[in-house]
Amino acid sequence: MKFFVDTADVAAIKELNDLGMVDGVTTNPSIILKSGRDILEVTREICSIVSGPVSAEVVSMNADAMIAEGRKLAEIASNITVKVPLTWDGLKACKVLSGEGKMVNVTLCFSVNQALIAAKAGATFISPFVGRLDDINLDGMELIADIRQVYDNYGFDTQILAASIRTVNHVTQSALVGADVITAPPAVIKALANHPLTDAGLAQFEKDWAKTGQKIL
Ligand code: G3P
Repeated sequence: MKFFVDTADVAAIKELNDLGMVDGVTTNPSIILKSGRDILEVTREICSIVSGPVSAEVVSMNADAMIAEGRKLAEIASNITVKVPLTWDGLKACKVLSGEGKMVNVTLCFSVNQALIAAKAGATFISPFVGRLDDINLDGMELIADIRQVYDNYGFDTQILAASIRTVNHVTQSALVGADVITAPPAVIKALANHPLTDAGLAQFEKDWAKTGQKIL
């Protein structure tokens, strides 16, 4: 399973990338706002660090404007993935941009039918938002599993990018149901290393080691 980082925090991306944890990056207008930086400038910097797909999102509502924005974003670097919303206009933009050989991530997906239609429009990635479905008492992970089944039934090669991942359990469940990619904030990715029994075991080893009076170096 690939790990994308859902952030425009360059320092956090660098830290995870140095550990081999970053297969790609996803951003959106809210993430750009949080970064406080210019979208073109920060996206260019991210692309200079990460060689995998870097999603940059269009902001217009009509297809022609989305296509123009997508083309401009794609000029930043060859690993740009143009992110478009799952609307009829977004699907038109997806079809045109993917037809030009650009990677396209169709975002704000909340149903199997939306995922199906995005695959037919040539999406490279579909981004179902797990956490936001959980927020309204629906089951985000069930959506990921259902999309997996539908895509496998018909051999669609659109990659399932589980998004709005908020917890380490979302990561486990995404892996179990066969999501191709998860995108999560850096804190969630770092939390994957945590286990209370690891901490307890290490504390015991530290205590016992001190009692030996030995040194390795
Ligand atoms: O990847 C999509 C993500 O940025 C949305 O996450 O937590 O705002 O629902 P969230």
